[in-house]
Amino acid sequence: MDVKLETRAVPQVETDALVIIGFEGAPPDGPAAVQIKEFYDSGEFSGKALEIAVLHHPSGLSAKRLVLAGGGKRDSFNASELRKLSGAVLRSLKTKGIHAITLALDEPFRSDDFAAAAVEGALLADLENDRYKTDPKKNEKHVDSFAVLGGSQAGVDRGRVLAEAQNFSRDIANEPANLLTPTILADHAKKMASEYGLECEVLDQDRMRQLGMGALLGVAQGSAEPPALIVLRYKPATAPSTKDHLGLIGKGVTFDTGGISIKPSDGMEKMRYDMAGGAAVIGAMRAIAQLKPSIPVTALVPTVENMPGSKAQRPGDIVKSLSGKTIEVLNTDAEGRLILIDALTYAQRLGCTHLVDAATLTGAIVVALGNVNIGAFTNNEAFLAKFLAASKAEGEKTWQMPMDEEYKELLKSNFADLHNIGGRAGGSITAAWFIRDFVDETPWIHLDIAGTAWLDDAKPYMAKGATGVGLRTFVRLAETW
Ligand code: BES
Ligand code: MN
Ligand code: ZN
Repeated sequence: MDVKLETRAVPQVETDALVIIGFEGAPPDGPAAVQIKEFYDSGEFSGKALEIAVLHHPSGLSAKRLVLAGGGKRDSFNASELRKLSGAVLRSLKTKGIHAITLALDEPFRSDDFAAAAVEGALLADLENDRYKTDPKKNEKHVDSFAVLGGSQAGVDRGRVLAEAQNFSRDIANEPANLLTPTILADHAKKMASEYGLECEVLDQDRMRQLGMGALLGVAQGSAEPPALIVLRYKPATAPSTKDHLGLIGKGVTFDTGGISIKPSDGMEKMRYDMAGGAAVIGAMRAIAQLKPSIPVTALVPTVENMPGSKAQRPGDIVKSLSGKTIEVLNTDAEGRLILIDALTYAQRLGCTHLVDAATLTGAIVVALGNVNIGAFTNNEAFLAKFLAASKAEGEKTWQMPMDEEYKELLKSNFADLHNIGGRAGGSITAAWFIRDFVDETPWIHLDIAGTAWLDDAKPYMAKGATGVGLRTFVRLAETW
C-alpha cells in the first residue's frame, strides 16, 4: 500500500473514500454538512470512537464516498486516538473492497505528529497475519493507496518509516518457531543491517563460551538449534554531543517449552512469540537507521530455543554468568532473565551507558496489568520519566511497577549467589530484581511485554498476532535524547 500526502483542498480530492472525523455531539461543518447532520440526527452515527458510516454521492465533493469516522470526545482526541481510528477505517473499508482512501484532518489536528499517526494506523492495520493461508482469493480485497490531507511530507515519511519497521518486527514475531530459529532470526537481522547501513555482528556458541556466557548457554543447551547473540550498531554520522550510548536489549527465545520445568501443553503454541522483545529492538534499529538520531544506539538480542533435550539444564544446576556471579537454576522456565543478564553485561562492556530491555518475561505481568499496559521497572527514576514521556507520545501505554528492596530477598540461594525464581507472589517484580542485580548502577529500564506483545483476537485497527509493542517508544526515546 502506497502512503502519501494530499495537497489539494477537500472538495477537489478525487478518491474512492474521503474520510472526515466526526466527534460526539458535533457534526462536522463544510461539504455535505446537510447529509452529515442527517446521520447525526437519525442516530445512525454519533461520533463515538471508532464508529464508521459511509455516505455515497456526497454533495460538494469530488470523492465517490464520504466516510464519517468517529473521533469520540473532541477534548480528549490525540495522535494515539487518531492512529487507532485511521486503522479502524482502513480495516473496515478494505473489507468493502475500497481501493483508495484519503483521510482529511482538520485544525487543530493538522500537525506532523497527527499526519504520522494517521499513516502509522493505516499501515499497521493493513498487515495481516495470514501468510500461510493458501486461499488464492485472500488478497482480492486490498487498499492500494492511503493519503493524508493535513501535516507535511516529513510527517507522512516519519509515519511510514516507523510503521514499516513495526510491521517488519511483527512479521518476524508472527513466524512459527519451526521457521524462525535463533539462526534464522540472526539472518533477518543481518539482512536488515546490510539494507539500512547498520553494523551487525553475531556471536556464535564458541565465542560465547570463550567469553563465559554461562547463563545464556545453560538455557540453549537443551536444544539442537544453536544459540546466537545478535549485535546491531548505529552510530550518528557527526560526532554526538553526548557521551551517552543507548543499549536496547530484547529477549529472543524463539520457542519456550519451559525446558525440563516443562509448560502445560494447553496454550504452549503461543510461546513462539517469546522473541517479541528481540523483534521489537531489531525493528527499532531499522527505523533508527533511517531517522538518524544523534545518539549512538546498540541493540543486543540473545536468542535461544528453550527445549527439554537430553542435554538440557536441570533444576538445581548452577551456572556462572558473564558477570562472574553464579546462579542456581531452580526453574528452567525462568529462562528469559538468564539470557538477558549475559546480554546486559555484554552491553555494558560494549560501552552502553543506558540500558532498556524488552522481554515477554512473566505470566505474572499479565495477571497484574492484563493486555493493556507494558510493565516498567527501573533503578533510575529520571531515566524512566524520559521513557514514559516517549511512550505516552507514541501511544504505547506503560505502567511503572514497584521495586522495593524487600522483593529482592526472595532471590537468595542456598548454594549460589542467587537463584532464578522468587515464587508466585510478585513474580514480575522478583524477575525484574533478578535482572537488576546484574546491571548494578547503570541506568536501566526493564519492560515486561508478556501481556502486550500479542493479540489473541483482532482489534478493529489491528490483526491478531504480534503487535510490535515498544518499538515506536524506543525510536522516540533515541530521537528525543
Ligand atoms: N515466556 C514466559 C513468560 C510468558 C508467559 C510470556 C505468558 C508470554 C505469555 C517466561 O519464560 C516464563 O515461562 N515465565 C515463568 C516464570 C516462572 C517460572 C518464575 C512464568 O511466568 O510462569
Ligand atoms: Mn519460560
Ligand atoms: Zn520465556
